[in-house]
Amino acid sequence: MNIAFADRLQRLPPYLFARLEELTSKKRAEGIDIIDFGIGDPDLPTPEPIIKVLQEAVTLQENHTYSSSSGELYMRQAVADFYKKRFDVDLDPDKEVCITLGSKEALANVCKAFVNAGEKVISPDPAYPVYANGAAVLSDAVPVKVPLLAEEGFLLDVERCPNDAKMLFLNYPNNPTGATCDVDYLRGVIEWCNDNEVIFCYDNAYSEMCFDGYLAPSALEAGRELIEFGSLSKTFNMTGYRIGYAVGDERLIAGLKKCKSQIDSGAPKFIQKAAAYALGMYEGRRLPKVISDNMAIYGKRRNVLVRGLRELGFDVPMPKATFYVWFDCGMDSMKFTEKMLQKGIVFTPGVGFGEAGEGFVRVALTRPLERIEEALHRMSE
Ligand SMILES: Cc1ncc(COP(=O)(O)O)c(C=O)c1O
Repeated sequence: MNIAFADRLQRLPPYLFARLEELTSKKRAEGIDIIDFGIGDPDLPTPEPIIKVLQEAVTLQENHTYSSSSGELYMRQAVADFYKKRFDVDLDPDKEVCITLGSKEALANVCKAFVNAGEKVISPDPAYPVYANGAAVLSDAVPVKVPLLAEEGFLLDVERCPNDAKMLFLNYPNNPTGATCDVDYLRGVIEWCNDNEVIFCYDNAYSEMCFDGYLAPSALEAGRELIEFGSLSKTFNMTGYRIGYAVGDERLIAGLKKCKSQIDSGAPKFIQKAAAYALGMYEGRRLPKVISDNMAIYGKRRNVLVRGLRELGFDVPMPKATFYVWFDCGMDSMKFTEKMLQKGIVFTPGVGFGEAGEGFVRVALTRPLERIEEALHRMSE
């Protein structure tokens, strides 16, 4: 029997990090001490009180059954309450909120729900690869990549986007560049999307990872005809729990719910209990202590890394949000990361996030200070 991948799977681009992963494993096997700044997965633990709620919830039989695929009402209500406190945005938990299994699946499923084969989906470049691949390519749509330029603060210029596209993905605070935007900028994007009938998908996965008093906005502060995605993954060090949410226009939420109802059976109820408790930590607009404590740790790491890289001669912007540092490495990004790997340091080459990321490198602040200092020391040699 001939077993072949479907055309859509074959259209996925080759996995750029395969060679780097191979080299990293080889170095590890040689006994080299590897400092890994590659992956955007917090090294800090889930806050203890959240774990306690999860432990309690998992013992109760009522939490062992299927959830509604769009999430239990208490979790949808917790998301609505969070939006009210944090962004002063009102949401109907029945119609304008859907609980997701992390935001990744929802970003892919929203495309399935609204984009037909052959239609265009705009993805910024560089970007989280799911917009172009998991969403567009796996929906038989056509990804159109539009560059984010350093001289424009890595803000997407909608005037460079095709106005016959069906959907636009955008993400600030941004992975991988660490760039942020304000409500006025989002207003402009929403206006362009409305004028051109383009569905606006705003990925706000890093909305809570803010430094130095900065608070990232929700796109719903700028308009209502859009869908926004959020996640507890990075906010509460809960990447492995797979819990997030989609909020916004009830027609877009309805499409996502309809699609998801045929694909998954909802997040485990005990995870939703823990997540609802976590979001309940907000008392107002400001970040709750568990998050600001985390961000203080990432902030110290950021300062040491940015200062160290600048001393080594790199031009490194200080990110206001996310836990990524993105800088121009002055050469081919794959060659640079391979060179770093010789020193036992893993960075992510910018080209892995799209052609426009070439020449840049992403460093995730997910290693303790002493490892960052050690990496800087190795780089200086
Ligand atoms: C920009 C962006 N969006 C979404 C996600 C997905 O996160 P999760 O599925 O854990 O919510 C990530 C994860 O790295 C990301 O970087």
